[in-house]
Amino acid sequence: MSRASMWSKNVDFVGGELTLSGLPASQLAREFGTPTFFLDEDAFRSRALAWRDGLRAEFGDSAGHVFYASKSFSCTAVAHWIEELGLGIDVSTGGEFAVAIAGGVSPSRIQVHGNNKSQSEIDRAVSAGVNTIVIDSLYEIDRVASAAQSQGKRQSVLIRLTPGIEAHTHESISTAHEDVKFGFSIASGAAWSAVEKIAMHPELELRGVHCHIGSQIFGTEAFEIAADRLLAFMARYRDTYGNELPELDLGGGYGIAYLPTEITVEPSDVLPAIGSAVRAACAKYKLNVPAISIEPGRNIVGPTMFTLYEVGTVKDVVLEDGSVRRYVSVDGGMSDNARTALYDAEYFACLAQRTSTAITSLSRIVGKHCETGDIIIRDIQLPSDVVPGDLIATPATGAYGRSMASNYNHVPRPPVVAVIDGKARVIVRRETEADLLALDVAKM
Ligand code: LLP
Repeated sequence: MSRASMWSKNVDFVGGELTLSGLPASQLAREFGTPTFFLDEDAFRSRALAWRDGLRAEFGDSAGHVFYASKSFSCTAVAHWIEELGLGIDVSTGGEFAVAIAGGVSPSRIQVHGNNKSQSEIDRAVSAGVNTIVIDSLYEIDRVASAAQSQGKRQSVLIRLTPGIEAHTHESISTAHEDVKFGFSIASGAAWSAVEKIAMHPELELRGVHCHIGSQIFGTEAFEIAADRLLAFMARYRDTYGNELPELDLGGGYGIAYLPTEITVEPSDVLPAIGSAVRAACAKYKLNVPAISIEPGRNIVGPTMFTLYEVGTVKDVVLEDGSVRRYVSVDGGMSDNARTALYDAEYFACLAQRTSTAITSLSRIVGKHCETGDIIIRDIQLPSDVVPGDLIATPATGAYGRSMASNYNHVPRPPVVAVIDGKARVIVRRETEADLLALDVAKM
């Protein structure tokens, strides 16, 4: 069960070798090289559908959109799947917007986020006719209003609220306590000022409120409290303006398994509790149930990819206490997985092309970058016979892996290969040194 949670549904181990949709790791490595992100397309599609259908099942006519958070990973192929499957997409920059459009996503299914949207990003979104712009600052109200006015349009907006919740996750990815750059605080009155300012702009149609309380969240309590606080705010709006706001977006944040001991949140684990909390709060505040939208990113794509590396060197280092730490260096590193360095994230890894009966030794999987913090897995028991040429697979790297990849040390970023029905195809090609050099303007 935990294996199924950490690895995607079409990963198997056959005769000791990892296979994805029947394709053995050694063959995938030969054909596509390493490091490479392999994406289980069938798993991606079924996870996306499970959220779409789960929202519909829980909220019926009050189901809004599942906006896939494209920051977790996007490319034109993925955007195209999202469109095909009938989900929406959340973009937080002009670049993510461009990918969604290139992938054929209808602007009517695009929700625009960002705490510092530029005027040109706003102009482009309004002109394309996006579904909603989520307002994140008072300045932005004027900017969106002026874009809508100059284009002769009325733009739908939500207000991003900070409900003041400490979700239990890493500080850098928790977003709804008070001391953050995102949104408007309900408690301080900033959120209400935003409502009043929007009401002065006839070019803006306030459709509702939004929050995103953090990422990699387990349990439902934080979502339930958020729903109650946002609905209380919507009741205040109704009491003041006499009409009800029709939409409520509760953001993303649903956790996934990175380790064998963890379990990925499934839609059926959280949506019923969120549904009950929403209905209870609506009854308490005498509101109709608004259209409920959500924005899962990590939970859809995270479990659907693993990264395949090749071991390059193995080095035993004697520590001060006399014990030995084995450094296993692979051909990628913090440039394709920044999460260990940034958030102390923990990952699992195993030999991908063979099994071993050797005793295990405490190992550290590191990359090829010129930095001590270039660590993929700080402590892991690996078979003591790991040698250069071995393949190592790290599961659950689909979210915020390739999307946060960098070119540190001028390392070209890895490709993404989608595998379905026993067939593999490149959906993002490997960067080349020529790609990197193409940006340099030679002045010689
Ligand atoms: N909606 C909004 C407004 C967000 O800011 C985010 C994530 C999401 C949805 C999707 O959250 P998810 O379902 O993927 O947890 N780089 C960090 C995660 C940063 C998340 C930022 N916002 C990491 O690697 O853990």
